[in-house]
Formats: sequence, C-alpha cells, structure tokens
Amino acid sequence: MSQPPTSDSTNQSWGGRFSEPTDAFVARFTASVDFDQRLAHHDIQGSRAHATMLARVGVLSEDERDAILAGLDEVQAEIEAGTFEWSVALEDVHMNIEARLTDKIGITGKKLHTGRSRNDQVATDIRLFLRDEIDTVAAELARLRQGLIALADHEADTIMPGFTHLQTAQPVTFGHHLLAWHEMLARDHERLLDCRKRVNVLPLGAAALAGTTYPIDRHVTAELLGFDRPAENSLDAVSDRDFAIEFTAFASTLLMHLSRMSEELVLWTSAQFDFIDLPDRFCTGSSIMPQKKNPDVPELVRGKTGRVYGHLMGMLTLMKSQPLAYNKDNQEDKEPLFDALTTAQDCLKAFADMVPAIEAKADNMREAARKGFSTATDLADYLVCRGVAFRDAHEIVGQSVAYGISADKDLSDMSLEELRRFSEVIEQDVFEVLTLEGSVAARNHIGGTAPDQVRAAAQRAREALATLTATDAPGDDR
Ligand code: ARG
Repeated sequence: MSQPPTSDSTNQSWGGRFSEPTDAFVARFTASVDFDQRLAHHDIQGSRAHATMLARVGVLSEDERDAILAGLDEVQAEIEAGTFEWSVALEDVHMNIEARLTDKIGITGKKLHTGRSRNDQVATDIRLFLRDEIDTVAAELARLRQGLIALADHEADTIMPGFTHLQTAQPVTFGHHLLAWHEMLARDHERLLDCRKRVNVLPLGAAALAGTTYPIDRHVTAELLGFDRPAENSLDAVSDRDFAIEFTAFASTLLMHLSRMSEELVLWTSAQFDFIDLPDRFCTGSSIMPQKKNPDVPELVRGKTGRVYGHLMGMLTLMKSQPLAYNKDNQEDKEPLFDALTTAQDCLKAFADMVPAIEAKADNMREAARKGFSTATDLADYLVCRGVAFRDAHEIVGQSVAYGISADKDLSDMSLEELRRFSEVIEQDVFEVLTLEGSVAARNHIGGTAPDQVRAAAQRAREALATLTATDAPGDDR
C-alpha cells in the first residue's frame, strides 16, 4: 500500500519555501494516510461541493468545475477498485487525492484547493464521515431496541427474582427486567441523535483559520453537503474536536450499558443461575473441558468497554490545553474515533443478533424467586395494612424468614398456624400476597413490575421508538 518516501522526496504542497527535503523518518512520523484514507469517500464528497460552490460564485469556470468533478469521479473509482496507490510522501488522504486529481486533469486540479485549507477540509471530512456512521449506529441501536421490546412483551408474565446487592430481593417479571435494559438504550439513542446535531455543522470556508478572501458562499456548501448551517467561527471550526469526543462519550456510555447486560447474561447462563439459554451460535466451547459452553460474545462485549473508555480519555487529553486554532495534535483524533465507532457498531450488532435468541428458562427463574424469600416485603406490607407498625412488621417477618431457613420452607410453604406464631393478625388471605404472582401483580402502577404494566410499557416503548426513527434525519448524503 504505502511506499516509504525516498530520501529526496520533497512535498510538492509546500516545497517552495523549503531548502531541503523532509527527513524520511519525519515524513513517515507525520503522515496519516495509513489511517485517514478511511475518510476518502467523504473527502471527495466535500471536494465536489467545494468545487461546485466555487463555480457558483465565479471563482472557477464551469469548465474547470466539470473537469474537477469528472476527475474526482475517476479518483473515486480507483479507490473503490483498490487500484489507487496511496503514498506516504503525500502525507494524508487530502493530498493523495488532490495529487491524483492533478495527475489526471492537469493544472485545473490544483485550483480545487482555492479558498480552503486542509484544516477546514479535514474537519469537514470527519463530520461528514461521522454523520454517516452515526446513522448506521442509530439504525443498529433501533434494531436492538425492537428486539428487546418484543422479548419483554413475550416475557411479561415470566417471574424471576429481582436483586439488590445481587441478593434475592423481590420477585419481578423478566419482561420488566428487559425493559430496564431498554430504558438505558433509549437514553443512549437520544444522546446519539443529540450529538448528531452538533456534528452536522460545516467547517469549510474557515480555510486555515481566519476565513478566506475569495467571495465564497458557505450557505451553498452547507446545503450541498446536507449540513444544518456553516460553523459560526472560523478559529473554532478548524480546531475543536468536541463533536468527536461527544460521540465517544456516547459510545462509552453505550458500552457501559452493554457491559451491564453482558454481565447478567454471563451470570444467567452459568449452572449456578441457569436462567437462560443462549443458542450455540453465540457461544464457544473449551478445547479441554468437553462440558463447557462459554458465553464469549457477552464476555467480549464486556471486555471491549475498556478500550472505548480509553479512547474517550485519549481524545479528551488530546484536546486539552490546545491553543487556538488548528494544531497537528488533532491528527491523533482519527484512530481512537474510528476504533470507538467500529467497536460500538460491532457490539451493537452482536447484541441485536443475540437478544431475540435469548431463551428464558421460566421454571428455573420461578424456582429461584420462590426459594429466596422474595415475598418477605409483601408479608410486611400485609401486616402494615392490618395496623402493625412497619418497624414491627419488619421484625416479625425477619423471625418468620429465620424460621423458614431452619425449617427449609419458603413463606408461601408455611401453614397458616406456622405463620400465626409470628403474628396473630395473619389470616388465610395472606397467601394471596405470598404467592409470586400476587406479589408482582400488586405492583400495578406506571413503572412497576406487574405483567399488565410491562405490556403497556412495551407498547409505549414501541411507539416512542417509531416516533424517533420516523423523525430521524433521512440520508442527506448528496
Ligand atoms: N492530516 C491532517 C490532520 O489529520 C490534516 C490537516 C493538516 N493541516 C496542516 N496544516 N498540517 O489533521
């Protein structure tokens, strides 16, 4: 791919001022083409709009514009065909493409860079690129949300233990648990679309830092590229990468959420919990222990969270203390951003494929809820309804649980006489609240775990998702 520069390579773009060629190591050290070629498509997209605008305001003739657009088509075709020869001596994606354009169409190719700088060019490329990638991430996030909502609806009646401190606390429905995951992702989705608004602003026209003396029309360029508006300040436009940091902060929060879900999937597939089954295609075996079926996919998602956090910290630190305006430091924004993106996309795909395939082992979940005295709070609430002070009720139930542990009986397994040993206010109707079904059904308010509430919440989630994806910016990639 990239050829090492020869010792006499002099970069054409600034050769005029220099009396000796760039040191070969320095050329390699300062080059970004090995990674920023990922921006090639968007670099060409930006150049097309720039040339079109320049012709519109009379800086380029129509013939010059047409030659540039046709030349860019050819360059793009070479890149897509994999025949384009990237050169480290030409430093980055921008100069590689421009040099190839000039090879093809001659001197007119050199006019493309009129009224712009690589500083506003690279900022534009990253924004165009990131905007497209955000749309891909948003679509995958929507697919995962749909899968979660459907599974939650299906499991609205399935009872499992709810935990605090990972100790059995109260019975909940599996659907309710899944909708808790969904809420996390719904907020991530909002954060992503909010970030997109700040990405979708045009730097071109800022030129190197101060703007340009040519009679450019930045509104035309913005419209051609589907940006909401031109960036307000040229110094800021070429220098800040907060939009990329913001995306990486979104990705970090998303991965933090996916790591929590992963952790639960890993626990639930263990023999100790045995709450769910993950189909074999999402698992791997052990080369030495024949019985093993390992939940590698959730484990790996959990593990990948660390690298995304690392990229966020790296980018924040990269931007820290940079004086205005552009500094070469910013070339370091790309690799962490690209990797955060790829990681987020891969992890979302893994989850969107896997979630609909989760098989709940309802009997095991129910048994775990039954064994863990998960209706103890319900018994306390029952006593309070019969006039016992809450603190006393807590004490009474504590004694009943202690008895249950020694007699190996859940509260609902005890006879009325056994229960009445702890409080005389207990009557036959206590068994309505001590059953798991009674316990979850009683939490029948918005946000509660009752099956009817879960079904209603799933319906609201479906509607909110439909509204969000309908108002999502359509492909404004022109
Ligand atoms: N490769 C550079 C980057 O990624 C492009 C901008 C370079 N500008 C400059 N004046 N050296 O930031």
